[in-house]
Amino acid sequence: MALLDKTFYIETFGCQMNVHDSEKVIGTLVHEGYRQVETEIEAALILYNTCSIRDKAEQKVFNRLNDYKALHKKGKRFAVLGCVAQQEGEKIFERAPYVSLVSGSASYRKLPEMLAQLEAGEERITGLDDRQTDETFETEFTARSNRHRGYITIIEGCDKFCAYCVVPYTRGKERSRTSHSVLAEARRMADAGYTDIQLLGQNVNSYKDPSGKMSFAELLAAVGQVAGIRRVRFTTSHPRDFTRDIVEAIDAQPTLCDHVHLPVQSGSSHVLKRMQREYTREWYLERIAWIQAARRPISLTTDIIVGFPGETDEDFEQTITLLAQVQYDAVFAFKYSPRPNTPAISMEDSIPEEIKTQRLQILLDRQREIQRKNYCRHIGEIVEVMVEGHNTARGQVFGRSSQNKVVNFTVDAPILPAPGNYLNVRITQAFPNSLLGEAVVSGREAAQMHLSIQDASIEISIV
Ligand code: 5AD
Ligand code: SF4
Repeated sequence: MALLDKTFYIETFGCQMNVHDSEKVIGTLVHEGYRQVETEIEAALILYNTCSIRDKAEQKVFNRLNDYKALHKKGKRFAVLGCVAQQEGEKIFERAPYVSLVSGSASYRKLPEMLAQLEAGEERITGLDDRQTDETFETEFTARSNRHRGYITIIEGCDKFCAYCVVPYTRGKERSRTSHSVLAEARRMADAGYTDIQLLGQNVNSYKDPSGKMSFAELLAAVGQVAGIRRVRFTTSHPRDFTRDIVEAIDAQPTLCDHVHLPVQSGSSHVLKRMQREYTREWYLERIAWIQAARRPISLTTDIIVGFPGETDEDFEQTITLLAQVQYDAVFAFKYSPRPNTPAISMEDSIPEEIKTQRLQILLDRQREIQRKNYCRHIGEIVEVMVEGHNTARGQVFGRSSQNKVVNFTVDAPILPAPGNYLNVRITQAFPNSLLGEAVVSGREAAQMHLSIQDASIEISIV
C-alpha cells in the first residue's frame, strides 16, 4: 500500500533519550512533508518509539500494537522504532505482520530513505544494521516540545555492558558528537529563547570529543557559558567514569545546576561485581564525597536495582545503609528484570518475585523518610524556580529549582507568570517530593513577565 496521506501519530515510551529521539524523528518527518496529529485514528502513519529496558516497558508496546492493529485494514501503516525494534528486529514482522517499518535508533539517519520506501508501498523495511556505526543522528529540524527547556544529545550508545542492561545491544557502540556541533546547537537554542539545556547520553562521562578539543567537564562549562543559557544539566553519569573536574566545573560555573544523577545500582560490592559495574561501594562513595565537598550543596539522585541474581539479605542491607549514608534527594528503584542478550540472562533469576517486591517496598519506605528530612531543610530558604506551568484549581504556579526539585508556589499578582520565567520563591513547607512557597516578586513584575512571554509565543520551535 502506498502512503498518500502524510499524517503521522507518534508515541514515545522509555527514557529521556527516547523522548529526544522522537523530537528529532518528528522534525525529520515534518521536514519530509508530514503533519503530526494527536490520535492513531487520524493518522496514516503510526509510529511507536519503544523501550525494552524492563519486560513491562516492552509489553506495553506490544499491547499498544494489538489495540490498534485493526486500523491496518483501513490502510494505516505502522512503524516500530527504538529499543524493542532493535532487540526484536524482523521478528516483529512475524508477531505483528501489519508493521511496515522496524528501525533501531542507530539507523535514524536513514529515516528519509526509509520513508521514501514506505511511501512507495514497500513492506518490511528495516533499519537494524547500524549499531557499529561511528555516526550520530544529527538534524537541524529537531521539533522540541518545550520552548524553554531542551535536550541535546552529546553521546549515543554505550560500551559498558553492565550484566543486566540491554542498552549496548539496542543503541549500539559509543559515539560522541564534536564539541563544535554541540555548542552550535546550544547557541541556536539560546538564540531561539531556550534558557535550560540538558545534555544527554547513556554515559555522558565517557564523552570523547572526536575533534579532541574538549573533555566532558570542559564541554559542560562551555555550554554553561553560552549567552542566554541559565541552567545546564546532564544525564546519565556512570561512577566508573565520573571525574573530579566535573565537580570543579560546577563550582566554577553558576549556570551548571546543583544536581548530579549518579546511578549506583547496588550498595554491595559483591553485587556490583556480578553486575559488571567496574566499581566498588568505596569507589562510588569517594565520588559522592567529591560531590558533597562542592562549594554549593549539590542534590544527589540515583538508580537502584533490587533482586539482581544472587542478591542476599546482607547485600540488600548494604544498599539500605548506602541510602542512609548518601542521603539522596530521589531514588529510582526497579525490580531486576531479565533481558534478552544480556550476560545476566545466563544467571538464574534466583530472587522470588515476592522478595523483590518486599525489598523494593522497604527501600522506597526508607527513602521516603530520608527525603522528608532533606526537603524540610529548604524551609525558610529562597530558591530560584523556573516556571513550568499553573495549577489553576489551586491558584498555584509550579516549576523546578536548580536542584531539580518541584516547587509549587503562590504569586501575589492578578496574572500568574508564564512558563519559562525565573522567580525567587521563599519556601514555607516541604513534602517528600516537593516544596511549597511564595514568590518574592511584586505583582507588577509578575504581570510584565507574563506579557513578555506571551508576545514571543510560538507553538513548536524548530531549532
Ligand atoms: N532490570 C531492572 N532495571 C534495570 N535497569 C536497567 N536494566 C534493568 C533491568 N534489566 C535500570 C537501571 C538503570 C535504569 C535506567 O534502569 O537502574 O540505571
Ligand atoms: Fe529504554 Fe534504555 Fe532504550 Fe532508553 S535506552 S528507551 S531506557 S532500553
